Amino acid sequence: MSAVPLVPAGLQLRPATREDLAAIWEIERASFSTPWPKEYLEQQLGEGFVVLERAGQIAGYAVIGIKIPSFFARLEQRTRALFSHTPLPEPPTVAHLLNIAVAPAFRRQGLGRFLLQYALDYAHQLGASRIELEVRTDNSAAIALYRKFGFHVQEIVPNYYSDGADAYLMVKALQPAEAPPHPPEYPDRTA
Ligand SMILES: CC(C)(COP(=O)(O)OP(=O)(O)OC[C@H]1O[C@@H](n2cnc3c(N)ncnc32)[C@H](O)[C@@H]1OP(=O)(O)O)[C@@H](O)C(=O)NCCC(=O)NCCS
Repeated sequence: MSAVPLVPAGLQLRPATREDLAAIWEIERASFSTPWPKEYLEQQLGEGFVVLERAGQIAGYAVIGIKIPSFFARLEQRTRALFSHTPLPEPPTVAHLLNIAVAPAFRRQGLGRFLLQYALDYAHQLGASRIELEVRTDNSAAIALYRKFGFHVQEIVPNYYSDGADAYLMVKALQPAEAPPHPPEYPDRTA
């Protein structure tokens, strides 16, 4: 199992709540040319949506999900198993880093690195064997961060963003986990 990083002093990592949405929305707007709509951010609240807080201020957030195979993918898998008379193999669990952002005032202080490490630990502990994400092909800061953590570009996804920009699909294999039932808990070390 990978090591759980300590929350750096002065920071608190916790699940995002409805009360955080205004602050999250400010960071979202400042960070992306095609931000998620407020309503969409709200829909994502729940397990896998965490915020990093410093002195009562939201400094960043991450949203991690688990990809569920599509109906057609499952149908195809079942049909193949039926005709080959072999038992159904377990479909791999794939995690998806749906969003990650650090407020401009808090950038280049290691918070992006911390949030990404949290996302990897969370995905690993949910039993994911792989984690994927999309990133604008011109987002050199994020791409540098992901490469540092061992992600590689699998393919270009043309017109991925609503303004027509292309994305890289970046992936990283995760070590097999013993998949405990709960996501990692991080020690709260607020100063
Ligand atoms: C990408 C982002 C989350 C990085 O957060 P951060 O807190 O500034 O990152 P860190 O301080 O932890 O930096 C970690 C590494 O990322 C890379 N990096 C971060 N910002 C960078 C920049 N402006 N230029 C080049 N590399 C950068 C570096 O490799 C850095 O390591 P180093 O400090 O040893 O050089 C932040 O820039 C951000 O919120 N951007 C807008 C939202 C976004 O693009 N999200 C990604 C969507 S796919």
